[in-house]
Amino acid sequence: MSDTAAIIPGPAILTWLVVSLTTLAYIFLKGYQRRASFNRLRRQGLPMPPWNPFLGHLLALSPVLAKLPSDTQQPGAFEILCKSHEKKDGESLIYLDLWPFAADPLLVICSPTLAVQACQDHDLPRPEILHKFFDPLAGGDNLFTMNGPEWKRSRALFNPGFSSSYILQQFGQVVDEAAVYASKLREHSRQGDLFSLDKMTCWYTMDIIGAVTLNSRLHSQTRFNPLASAMRRQIRWHVLDNEFNLLVRWNPARPIFQAYNNWQMNRYISRELDKRYAEWIDDQDITVAISSSRSIIDIVLAEYMAQQQQNTKTTRPKELDPAFKKWAFAQIHVFIKETLRLFPPGSAFRRGQKDKYWPHALDFKPERWLITDPEDHLYTGRVKGGWRPFEHGPRDCIGQTLAILDLKVTLVMTVREFYVLSTYDEWDLLHAKEIRGKIKHVNGERAYQIQSGGVHPADGFPCRVRMRTEEGIVRS
Ligand code: HEM
Repeated sequence: MSDTAAIIPGPAILTWLVVSLTTLAYIFLKGYQRRASFNRLRRQGLPMPPWNPFLGHLLALSPVLAKLPSDTQQPGAFEILCKSHEKKDGESLIYLDLWPFAADPLLVICSPTLAVQACQDHDLPRPEILHKFFDPLAGGDNLFTMNGPEWKRSRALFNPGFSSSYILQQFGQVVDEAAVYASKLREHSRQGDLFSLDKMTCWYTMDIIGAVTLNSRLHSQTRFNPLASAMRRQIRWHVLDNEFNLLVRWNPARPIFQAYNNWQMNRYISRELDKRYAEWIDDQDITVAISSSRSIIDIVLAEYMAQQQQNTKTTRPKELDPAFKKWAFAQIHVFIKETLRLFPPGSAFRRGQKDKYWPHALDFKPERWLITDPEDHLYTGRVKGGWRPFEHGPRDCIGQTLAILDLKVTLVMTVREFYVLSTYDEWDLLHAKEIRGKIKHVNGERAYQIQSGGVHPADGFPCRVRMRTEEGIVRS
């Protein structure tokens, strides 16, 4: 090989150089545009923490994150920033520039009045950023991310299936799954072992959603179920916005595993949909099919078929319309994924954690909800729109009646029989090496909220369970 040939880069290196330089130029240009547009907001005097022309608000965020557990949910950090940088004379809100971790400027609202404006007075569209979070879980556009007529049509299809009267008819299904949950608790109390209540409760809520939405008992509480397991794996592979480790964030194996999990979930749901369709097609009268439906998907399917027949005036096809299947995949994934939000229910900026609006905001004071005297300092009536765990307005939670029914049935079927002892101290001793030097409390709370697809208690809420005696004394 001649000397000259040795120093001329080969086509592979040249291609790599061109791609790298183009990517760098693109990132630089994007970064410049984002910072310049945010700088305009800053010059208008909008409330925000100290801003850096190169790093935006990443510098302001980092000391706040340093005081929180590394796995804490992101809104906790935003809330702290909001408390310290909101305009003292105004409502609680701040603007944040977190590019490249968030493409658009972020407006953090910590005020009920402004939350009412954003979600109820104006039907603001869901932002693009949600696709990044939901698409890998839902496998496509879904009720959470859709906007405009597409969302309206999908929501209208699902509304009858989530109506209060219909959900109340599902009482029996919820009780069946709650009975399995109680039997698992009984088993743990017999064994006296340390276990994760969060993990166990997630399987339980998945079973409820499977029964109520799909009319299919998943039995994930007692054995392996491909749909529930693929969903749990998908959550584990899910990359969160607060993942600042770029090696984890851009792990090349992620899309492969996510595609595989999605395929597994779609295959399971496809089979269930075929079964439901076969049942539906046997029924000659659509109105009868609606009234005798046993699950939400039966109702949605009947509504959809009624619409199709009205539009096309054709007879019933032998096989279920693939367009419906594709649409249903994404919707059903969302409902199952949503089960992981059940423990605990509150998340994002909707929690009431500001003393300004809720006296003793961090204290558990259920009695505040019973107070009718407006002079009483705990009176909740003066906080209009402050309690919004399910949001309000047109995009409120479609599953809230089911969630509340589920919570009530679970409490009725468990609290009188079992006593759950939190065992964080024991867990911390067992994991002393792993957690040494790490922050493990938020506002003095060890079971602080972490983000893992939905919001969960830290470290899965380790506990032991004991049976109560009739006198209410715990049997050891
Ligand atoms: C305690 C449990 C639950 C809580 C705290 C909760 C909370 C919420 C919240 C806050 C929203 C509004 C999101 C936003 O505005 O960005 C929402 C929307 C939604 N929730 Fe829930 N949810 C729960 C249970 C469920 C269940 C069990 C289901 C279904 C089986 C469900 C399905 C949905 C859907 C589909 C939406 C989107 C509605 C739309 O945009 O039209 N949720 N949920």
